[in-house]
Amino acid sequence: MDYKALVYWKLVYPITIKMDSYQGLDFLPKITAKAVGLDIKRSFGYSPSHKRFLIELLNDFSITSNDTIIDVGCGKGSAMRTMLKYTFSKVDGIELSSIIANIAIQNFKRLKVNRCSVFTGDAGQFKIYNDYNYVYFFNPFPAVVMKEVIENLKKSAQLVDREIIIIYMSPTCTDVIEKSGVFELRGIYKRTGAWVTVYSNRSLKNSTLSSNKKMIPCTESSDIKKELQLYLQNFIQPDYIDRIK
Ligand SMILES: C[S@@+](CC[C@H](N)C(=O)[O-])C[C@H]1O[C@@H](n2cnc3c(N)ncnc32)[C@H](O)[C@@H]1O
Repeated sequence: MDYKALVYWKLVYPITIKMDSYQGLDFLPKITAKAVGLDIKRSFGYSPSHKRFLIELLNDFSITSNDTIIDVGCGKGSAMRTMLKYTFSKVDGIELSSIIANIAIQNFKRLKVNRCSVFTGDAGQFKIYNDYNYVYFFNPFPAVVMKEVIENLKKSAQLVDREIIIIYMSPTCTDVIEKSGVFELRGIYKRTGAWVTVYSNRSLKNSTLSSNKKMIPCTESSDIKKELQLYLQNFIQPDYIDRIK
């Protein structure tokens, strides 16, 4: 573990949990899918996106008050809390576990935030994507669910003409999105332990992503796709994810 990670896990993480709990908030502690009775063939567990990395990432996007975002597999709402610091007019989330979704709902009630809603249900069945132009995932579920979500996003893109930007942290099902025929891999952010892939239904030239400065653009000729395959081959699912035997 490098020095920064050590400081985070030994100092920042436990202090943040204590400070949150003092305010009646619960954003950080992980929960496995089994612990809340979820079917591990359709869901990975809860772990929050790394806040500093998410801030670095979102700072690179040209977010305006015309933009809206949904965190698919929002858990306790940790990433949504960070997204609310930006000018999105709406920051919503969908979460399968009612136990976890209720924690998120209570968190935002305590923070008195009114720009966000948390829906409870299976992302695979969720069909109301027309209101959003940014979609965020942090390694929430396996390919079987990602296929259903992408089908619904494709339908939404046909119904309401707009650019849809997908941001995917730890993109274990990138192949499902790349095979969609609608959303193409436009760029990658690399960080030890958690790469992020970014997709759009517009060409890079016609996308707001063309002004992202830290994003490594993906073109047919670039080697970055090969690097991504290598990263994913060596990717080890973290401890909050139950192993299927
Ligand atoms: C890795 S956590 C990410 C949490 C949050 N997005 C963040 O970044 O802070 C993934 C979350 O997705 C939820 N999830 C898993 N399968 C799901 C499904 N099929 N539909 C909706 N949510 C799901 C899990 O319960 C978990 O809370």
